[in-house]
Amino acid sequence: MTQDELKDAVAAAALDEIRPRLERDSVLGIGTGSTANRFIDRLAALRDDFAGAVASSEASAERLRGHGIEVFELNSVGTVPFYIDGADEVNAHLHLIKGGGGALTREKIVAACAERFICIADASKRVARLGEFPLPVEVIPMARSYVARELVKLGADPVYREGVVTDNGNQIIDCYDFPIDDPVGMEARLNAIVGVVTNGLFAARGADVLLLGTDGGVERLTPQ
Ligand code: A5P
Repeated sequence: MTQDELKDAVAAAALDEIRPRLERDSVLGIGTGSTANRFIDRLAALRDDFAGAVASSEASAERLRGHGIEVFELNSVGTVPFYIDGADEVNAHLHLIKGGGGALTREKIVAACAERFICIADASKRVARLGEFPLPVEVIPMARSYVARELVKLGADPVYREGVVTDNGNQIIDCYDFPIDDPVGMEARLNAIVGVVTNGLFAARGADVLLLGTDGGVERLTPQ
């Protein structure tokens, strides 16, 4: 199967996962990226069965509205029963690297408000150790050089993602050559650097369920 077919398969599996639990007043948390987009497109068929969605990016909000799905402000919703999103890497504990698309901060906020985080990913995203994919760090623009120097001290090779401004008006540094043995600890250390808004490690709050698209079918995994 192609990677696109695997993404389609996990999007369909996520719909099956939430469909029996949808209620008329449910507001869903929706992520960002090509896998989340496939889920949004499928969700359109159920739009009369739930109230709407909170989006983790302007791009996803626009796609949801394009399907006639109402988009709510997170502050007016409180918690969401499900957050459905992709990942750039996932390990056996369902710790993730996210933010390849630059939406990490809003993704982390919506994930924090979710009762259940369902991660949808093709098999290429599964790793034994996080860090092959460059870890994104969102920074306040004036702190970029300072944060980069601190990242070097932690062993990373930081590269400014030029030309990218996040939905929050900030910048992104990608950490290359940065294998991560302790995702929970490193997430906290990165958050403690002054000027860091968020980092792309989703370990303190990882996924609750992983729907992983493989050539043998969709595997449903929970944290080890
Ligand atoms: C967006 O900022 C990311 O966190 C995405 O969820 C992640 O990059 C996965 O994207 P794809 O589904 O496009 O691989």
